[in-house]
Amino acid sequence: MQGFSQAADNNKAAILAVLAKWLPHQAKLLEIGSGAGQHAIHMAAALNHVHWQPTDRAPVLPMLTSNIAEYGTANILRPTALDLATQTWPAQTYDCVYSASVMHIVSSELGENLICGAAKMLTADGLLALYGPYKYAGDFTTPSNADFDLWLKARDAQSGIRDFEWVHDLAARSGLRLMADQRMPANNQMLIFKASANE
Ligand SMILES: C[S@@+](CC[C@H](N)C(=O)[O-])C[C@H]1O[C@@H](n2cnc3c(N)ncnc32)[C@H](O)[C@@H]1O
Repeated sequence: MQGFSQAADNNKAAILAVLAKWLPHQAKLLEIGSGAGQHAIHMAAALNHVHWQPTDRAPVLPMLTSNIAEYGTANILRPTALDLATQTWPAQTYDCVYSASVMHIVSSELGENLICGAAKMLTADGLLALYGPYKYAGDFTTPSNADFDLWLKARDAQSGIRDFEWVHDLAARSGLRLMADQRMPANNQMLIFKASANE
């Protein structure tokens, strides 16, 4: 596996358990920031009724495509380029947009693009699933997340752990309703939003 991530390996089982609970049968899922494709490979193998579309920025695609070709199942579609900066969104809708550990990596501008763009990609009752660390009422959930935020910002001043309330507000303004905010291992959360157009 090229570009193996230990963090993605550590969190894949816990994330799968949550996604399995929420995803409808025969779901079409769009993943943003797939990285090496470890989540796509693990989760699509377990959720064989889900059609999984991995994406990432163009420079990442050769690694992602090669890993999927070698280790992926038939229900994973060929990875495509989706850059939150240029907003190259696919021309179809999805039952779920899923993104893990991307919101704190990209700038707040691109994080906003992620939420608002994803909302437009969803079917009438589609889901947006965001995995990662968040702050609540301005506070980190743990001292280690505060340290992680400093580390992120030293690497890239535009990155950093986002406020849950900011994410929630952007989602609400995009017509998404918070269905779950589940505590996950290693001081992360899984936020599940649902398109509320039909409710
Ligand atoms: C920490 S990695 C997470 C990868 C994978 N989702 C995981 O959980 O292991 C962050 C990912 O965000 C992607 N990324 C960074 N900037 C991006 C952008 N502008 N548009 C789309 N993806 C981006 C990176 O290429 C990388 O794959």
